[in-house]
Amino acid sequence: MPRGYFIDTAGCQMNERDSETLAGICEGLGMSPCANMSGADVVILNTCAVREKPQQKVYSRIGELVRLRRERPGMLIVVAGCVAQIDAEELRRRGADIVVGPRCYDRLEAALRDLTRGCTLLGEDDRPVGEGLPVCRASTLKAFVNIIYGCDNFCAYCIVPYARGREQSRLPGEIIAEVEDVVAAGARDVTLLGQNVNSYGHDLPGAIDFPALLRRVDAVAGLDRLRFTTSHPKDLTPALIDAIAELPSACEHLHLPIQAGSDRVLAAMGRGYTCEHFRALIDMARAAIPGLAVTTDVMVGFPGETAEDFAQTLRAFEEIRFDQAFMFKYNDRPGTRAESMEPKVPEDEKQRRFLEVVALQNETARAINRGLSGQVFEVLIEEPDPRSPGHVRGRTRHNKLMIVPGGEELIGAMVHARAGEAFLWGWRGEIIDGEA
Ligand code: SAH
Ligand code: SF4
Ligand code: F3S
Repeated sequence: MPRGYFIDTAGCQMNERDSETLAGICEGLGMSPCANMSGADVVILNTCAVREKPQQKVYSRIGELVRLRRERPGMLIVVAGCVAQIDAEELRRRGADIVVGPRCYDRLEAALRDLTRGCTLLGEDDRPVGEGLPVCRASTLKAFVNIIYGCDNFCAYCIVPYARGREQSRLPGEIIAEVEDVVAAGARDVTLLGQNVNSYGHDLPGAIDFPALLRRVDAVAGLDRLRFTTSHPKDLTPALIDAIAELPSACEHLHLPIQAGSDRVLAAMGRGYTCEHFRALIDMARAAIPGLAVTTDVMVGFPGETAEDFAQTLRAFEEIRFDQAFMFKYNDRPGTRAESMEPKVPEDEKQRRFLEVVALQNETARAINRGLSGQVFEVLIEEPDPRSPGHVRGRTRHNKLMIVPGGEELIGAMVHARAGEAFLWGWRGEIIDGEA
């Protein structure tokens, strides 16, 4: 039996959570984690296909691993995640021993136990979600819990529905049991995960929807902070805003991807909302939830995006003022509708637009944080600050970073800290009171 495993994780929080299951499976087979790839008997690449670059990196990684395997013939190369699901044949051709899609981790243990070489495990849409898989969590303080797998939206640019299959909600009882488990094990901050959490429950019997699920999770005793990602603007309802406003554990933070500020581009993307609708949602949420932080995703250079369309994205950013944004240049993804849409925006123009929206957003985020300097925030201390000895850091309920003087004894404590000097990511501050 192999002894050491190493997992390399790319992509979103769903992959991070899945890697905890992959680790759990390896540990269940008696393996232990290795500090690097070269010492491991089983190397798992948990891959992301959402953009081209991380996907290309998988192929070069496999090349390196195949060379390593020549010196260490016992080594197994496992490719998991979204690239595994959409490009299994090519991965096998390049030398992967086991290729396993994100809906098939319940079948991986048997493959590893038999030391199966040359096996491909891919998800079919109607496969039930595996429950009760082993898990080895990366953090005891913070936990990710899946609520809905897959995506049915098929936004024109996006590979996720092809990689993760159709939507499938977990049963509320399974979700609550997992939340109770992690809270009992010390978690204070739980994030519910789904590509579109707002469509939770539509495939389940009974009348449970996402706001109703949030109420049930909030009722778990001992849970301090409840988060969720991602909300789709077309499915966000006033009932969700009410739930965030009312529930004590629900954090004052909404991640709501805008993608573009032009209605023409939003329609071509197949997003199902207008910029005006998006802004009305933000206004409603800000009115109901004092101090709400709003973050987003945006893409520049979608096929056919004109200078005027892009100007509308900038205008939306100026007017909405997001606390943080994940910003991307559009990439063609194989098999998506946008792949065949014309005209493509030239690379240098995409880069120019990208830098412009990044500059605007950075200025906004710094200004927002500067405006909050001097205020006191609740901070869950998570870890030593890697760049300043004698300091620890944690997050506010708005998911901003706060770095404060202190030692390891503070880790896990919920403190109040006064925000001092402001940065893009948050503040340096001082603890004014706390548990520790
Ligand atoms: N389910 C989430 C997004 C998941 S993908 C949602 O609906 O918003 C994360 C982000 O990657 C997306 O929000 C989008 O901004 C970006 N993205 C997705 N496909 C992309 C592509 N083809 N090129 C560039 N960015 C992309
Ligand atoms: Fe992709 Fe759209 Fe689904 Fe998000 S909602 S994962 S962007 S298809
Ligand atoms: Fe990437 Fe798959 Fe997540 S494509 S962003 S790892 S769902």
